[in-house]
Amino acid sequence: MQGDPYYEVASGGSQVLSCERDKLLILMAYVVTESCIKCKYTDCVDVCPVDCFREGPNMLVIDPDECIDCTLCVPECPVEAIFAEDDVPDAQHEFIAKNRELAAQWKPIIERKPAPSDADEWAKVKAKKQLLET
Ligand code: SF4
Ligand code: F3S
Repeated sequence: MQGDPYYEVASGGSQVLSCERDKLLILMAYVVTESCIKCKYTDCVDVCPVDCFREGPNMLVIDPDECIDCTLCVPECPVEAIFAEDDVPDAQHEFIAKNRELAAQWKPIIERKPAPSDADEWAKVKAKKQLLET
């Protein structure tokens, strides 16, 4: 029936199709949060099948347009910095937009590299948003 989104998807209503696609892209992304700052262990990079991590001076982010929601990176992070977008804690919500914004500026990282020498010290620090370097 006209006006029903399912009808319009089935009948090729392009506006609804592109709207549904946008929703899927947003829902499927994984997000790197505050715990990564100054830790940057990069264990996550090695397992990503689509190379969607981007590297900044002291943190990585995920390009939400490239992430295929495979979940492989989540258990690899020693500081549990990575969440499905729907599961990002309230206090970390700003990192959803930051991942998108910074992924557009930063370069891909496709291989693990040594963590900063003081990464284990910073892993114990919870509040470090203000130390993010862009
Ligand atoms: Fe890469 Fe999969 Fe993690 Fe997305 S969920 S960043 S595709 S490893
Ligand atoms: Fe950061 Fe964890 Fe990857 S610390 S670099 S998200 S393994």
